[in-house]
Amino acid sequence: MVIVLIGYMGSGKSSVGRKLAEMHSMTFVDMDDFIEEKEGKKIREIFADKGEIYFRKAESRYLEDLMKNSDNMVIALGGGTPCYGNNMEYIQQSTDKVVYLRASIEELTARLKEEKEHRPLIKHLSDTELEEFIRKHLFERNFFYLKAPYSVLVDGRPVETIADEITSRVV
Ligand code: S3P
Repeated sequence: MVIVLIGYMGSGKSSVGRKLAEMHSMTFVDMDDFIEEKEGKKIREIFADKGEIYFRKAESRYLEDLMKNSDNMVIALGGGTPCYGNNMEYIQQSTDKVVYLRASIEELTARLKEEKEHRPLIKHLSDTELEEFIRKHLFERNFFYLKAPYSVLVDGRPVETIADEITSRVV
């Protein structure tokens, strides 16, 4: 079984994924960590040194590598992974257990205000700009995120509760 978690930055893909994998003795892989390990650089360094286009191409390539060799695994993708190239189609062909962690704009803004610095797409934004950016960006990205067969609301809910809901619906 392979479970893929998608959703906007700050929606909790990594913490929920880690918990879910632990609950079911599955392997957990965080796509950003996988890319950092392969490239030998932090995501923010890849963006700064080589640019976003390079990052998106590498991301698609590593997604295929990862999905090809995945088994008994929970994978937390990057926020943009489903939204570029044929990635979402590829993901859906690889597993039917794709879960969108859905968060409101207010919740995402509050969470991301605290941790903008290491995120290349938002680190230059003021707190007021951040909410507007998320509103527009999420509107565009929802086109891809909503293709997931499962969607779980995360606002104000502990990681364990979200992992339990995924378990009852997907596992
Ligand atoms: C991105 C999200 C990040 C990371 C990169 C781009 C995005 O992952 O892949 O900074 O386009 O939303 P997280 O969602 O894990 O923060």
